[in-house]
Amino acid sequence: MIRVAAVGDVHVGIDSAGSLRPGWDRLGDEADCLLLAGDLTKGGEAEEAAVLAGELDGLGLPVIAVLGNHDHHAGDPGAVRGMLVDAGVTVLEGEAARVELDGGTLGVVGAKGFGGGFEGAMATEFGEEEMKAFVRHTRERAEAIDRALEDLEADVRIVLLHYAPVRGTLFGEPAEIFPFLGSYLLAEPCDRAGVDLIVHGHAHRGRHEGATAGGVPVRNVAMPVIERAYVVFSFDLARSTA
Ligand SMILES: [Fe+2]
Ligand SMILES: [Fe+2]
Repeated sequence: MIRVAAVGDVHVGIDSAGSLRPGWDRLGDEADCLLLAGDLTKGGEAEEAAVLAGELDGLGLPVIAVLGNHDHHAGDPGAVRGMLVDAGVTVLEGEAARVELDGGTLGVVGAKGFGGGFEGAMATEFGEEEMKAFVRHTRERAEAIDRALEDLEADVRIVLLHYAPVRGTLFGEPAEIFPFLGSYLLAEPCDRAGVDLIVHGHAHRGRHEGATAGGVPVRNVAMPVIERAYVVFSFDLARSTA
């Protein structure tokens, strides 16, 4: 059995010390690994990431994270990333991590993702350079996920995103902003590889459960959606139960 805890959008500020840790105190007993699905900080300040590092200190399980749009807001995502890496967090952007656990090997491919929309209502790389750049950013994230999955061998494979790969976990948000909440391009490499689970955040007013066209379970783990400190996905290696 592999047990994976996940939460996104914790939005830590400099005044957040002590706010998350009580909810995470039993994490080491309940899960083998923690995934953080981006928007780790309020405004992308290194000082905010330092507060999060303090909340994570001594949790007793591996922590794997991706950054979100809020973590880019101050213009220096590298500072947020560096603060978390120094605290022992594995921060992924188009890369894979393998973790050897008692129950088997967990493989996680992580990427922020980006927007563009979904089947029937999506932006394309056409027209103004700004529009091309917008969609290109998403496409490049999706291509990185594809490459990282190609070489990843593990008993359980999870893709960790900030932006959504399907519209199914967005219902509850205004439909007008769906193109800014995610892109179908992020789901395609996951379907090709047949991963076990995709988790994402970003859509605070969305819903928890969805699936890709290929049947991969998608879970929105934004803290305002799950309304608790984390959710745990358990994988029986004979049959996944996400
Ligand atoms: Fe958020
Ligand atoms: Fe976000």
